[in-house]
Amino acid sequence: MYNNYDRKIRSHYTMDNKDNTAELAVENNTYTREPNLITVPIENTDLAKVLELECAAKGEILTFPEYASVVIPIAYGFQGLSNDERTSFRGKTDIHTRWSTALAQYCIDKNYQQLLEFGCGDGSLVENTLSILSSKKYKIKYTGIESILPLRQQTETRLKKAGFEADVNQITTLDNLKVDTTSPVLVVFPFSLDSVTPSILTTSKIYGGMPDTEIGITVKNGYLIEQLILPNQLKFKNRGLENGIYTVGDKWELDLSSWDVSHQWDRVYFPSGMIETLATLSQLVPLNSEFIIIDEKAFNPTGRSRVILPPRTINTFIGTSIDCDLVDLYQQSGNTVFYHPLCNELLHQNLFDIGFSKVSYNGEISAANNLTFHHSEKNINETCLATFAQNLIKNQKLRRISIQPPKIDSIIID
Ligand SMILES: C[S@@+](CC[C@H](N)C(=O)[O-])C[C@H]1O[C@@H](n2cnc3c(N)ncnc32)[C@H](O)[C@@H]1O
Repeated sequence: MYNNYDRKIRSHYTMDNKDNTAELAVENNTYTREPNLITVPIENTDLAKVLELECAAKGEILTFPEYASVVIPIAYGFQGLSNDERTSFRGKTDIHTRWSTALAQYCIDKNYQQLLEFGCGDGSLVENTLSILSSKKYKIKYTGIESILPLRQQTETRLKKAGFEADVNQITTLDNLKVDTTSPVLVVFPFSLDSVTPSILTTSKIYGGMPDTEIGITVKNGYLIEQLILPNQLKFKNRGLENGIYTVGDKWELDLSSWDVSHQWDRVYFPSGMIETLATLSQLVPLNSEFIIIDEKAFNPTGRSRVILPPRTINTFIGTSIDCDLVDLYQQSGNTVFYHPLCNELLHQNLFDIGFSKVSYNGEISAANNLTFHHSEKNINETCLATFAQNLIKNQKLRRISIQPPKIDSIIID
């Protein structure tokens, strides 16, 4: 029994980073076979050099999110696109065409004084929303969070040009965010939460078990090489994975001890970044704040391993195939934008765990139409969901978050 994804990786490459694997195996006394790790040349040789330097700075190995933080800004286009395309960026969506009126209406109906947007991109959504609000003489303070500098700059310029400079609190990164806690905040995630890159975890136990090892990436001589991250390398990154607890500095302990990865070296795309993002924001905003998360619909993992969907690229979303090929993705590093659809069950559980008492969702188009009192056509086939997390009733400084494994939806047998 394999799921298709596992089989694809197996048939492409099995790897020979024997030193690292053997060391770990000796440590755990569990070694029986090679994990299915990928080695592939990176087409963009300049980027390969940048990644190599980044490896040297980060303990000779990068986590998957560390790798993404180097290659995604490049893929967003400021190095890669033609002149004509520089006004836009590859991850841009058409959300501003549906949600500007809906958000403006929602702010007015619920009397929000503050709007915070996570992953604002080029600021199209907020520009339109503020325009609608100002035409109704409604004032709101806006905060934008965006990890990519040129996009923060685009949002800033756009809002300045439109005359909304005075309505901006901050356009910043999550680490530098300062929230005004005097009134509840409406926090919107417009196709951004699934862009927060997950960590790749696996188990070294022959008969499966809880995740105990993280898979990382080394770049050397133009080659990208997946390797197991050794405990001391993880420690260098101020992280740890022991007894099913994934620690992030002295900030978070993500408890995965109830997870059971069925087979040795099966992969779990564990959305630690998503969980940390939601938990951080829930602790910064005052009680009664609300989150609206708009993202592509995702399914629970399928097949024998607890794979929370491997990445998709914008190209594979537009095309017919569902998941991208990790080998191609690595090879074309810096040339594609990838994201990880969220497992809804895990997302909803996490929203309850961090303190919301009401979580509901609807098709994204229907939700936007409902808020603006437009009647949706019946039976529209929606590929995206809007999840509403309401009634934030506690934001105590929790450190340990228990994460239950999502159900496996179906088993593919061949
Ligand atoms: C698919 S794009 C959507 C952009 C915009 N909201 C839109 O709909 O056009 C996802 C955005 O989230 C941003 N993002 C991803 N992870 C982030 C993080 N950890 N902090 C801030 N922004 C992030 C990306 O840089 C990107 O601009």
